Amino acid sequence: MQRRPLIVALDFATKQEVITFLSAFRNEKLFVKVGMELFYREGPRFVYELKEQGHDIFLDLKLHDIPTTVKRAMKQLANLEVDLVNVHALGGVDMMKAAKEGLDLGTAMGKKAPSCIAVTQLTSTSSEMLANELAIPASLDDHVIHLCDQVKKADLAGVVCSALEVPKIQDSFSSSFLTVTPGIRRLEDAANDQSRVVTPGKAKELGSTAIVVGRGITRATEPIYAYEQYVKEWRNT
Ligand code: C5P
Repeated sequence: MQRRPLIVALDFATKQEVITFLSAFRNEKLFVKVGMELFYREGPRFVYELKEQGHDIFLDLKLHDIPTTVKRAMKQLANLEVDLVNVHALGGVDMMKAAKEGLDLGTAMGKKAPSCIAVTQLTSTSSEMLANELAIPASLDDHVIHLCDQVKKADLAGVVCSALEVPKIQDSFSSSFLTVTPGIRRLEDAANDQSRVVTPGKAKELGSTAIVVGRGITRATEPIYAYEQYVKEWRNT
């Protein structure tokens, strides 16, 4: 992974919208995140095209199913030669191990298998939701650390988590354990549906490995200016 990656979430409905968005960046190679909306509409072919254009790719499909199904699905995703994929840690250790096996099986000789990280709790999950809707009695912090432990047991590369959880995760795990953090907003941007947002500078201070930024850049009136501001706060503060 490049130093201090800023991953731009391409949360667009169509390939055309993505092309329009990326064309403004001219030849700059970005680290982009392709999520469910775009993948379900445009399919694997478009992921290849983004790769051919030189972008690094986080394919954010958050797999969560029985281990065999996840293994077989990951074998297919490995063919796409993306850089990063993910699963839900709530799928359990066997499922996470199966994900990794599938990635290894689907990676051609001499190529590097995509790194796999796990979502602990979505950044839209609040403490109230954890207790009242999910009936999980642990605190959000403790629950996230418990899930990180399971991720570590499965030997995945790290987690997707809130930047607010990073210091506690780094206390418990080595610095090579990746912490990829969405829920990032500059002070002037709206939080939207994210419950636990932090600024890029704060994410750096808290020790995030990579940040994921969607609407703060993609829905900005001037996306390039917004991107540059995010990069500046993330890398230089
Ligand atoms: O627009 P915004 O910056 O909130 O986008 C965040 C992106 O990160 C979205 O694509 C969302 O699906 C993703 N994400 C998240 N929380 C997680 C995992 C992924 O917000 N725990």
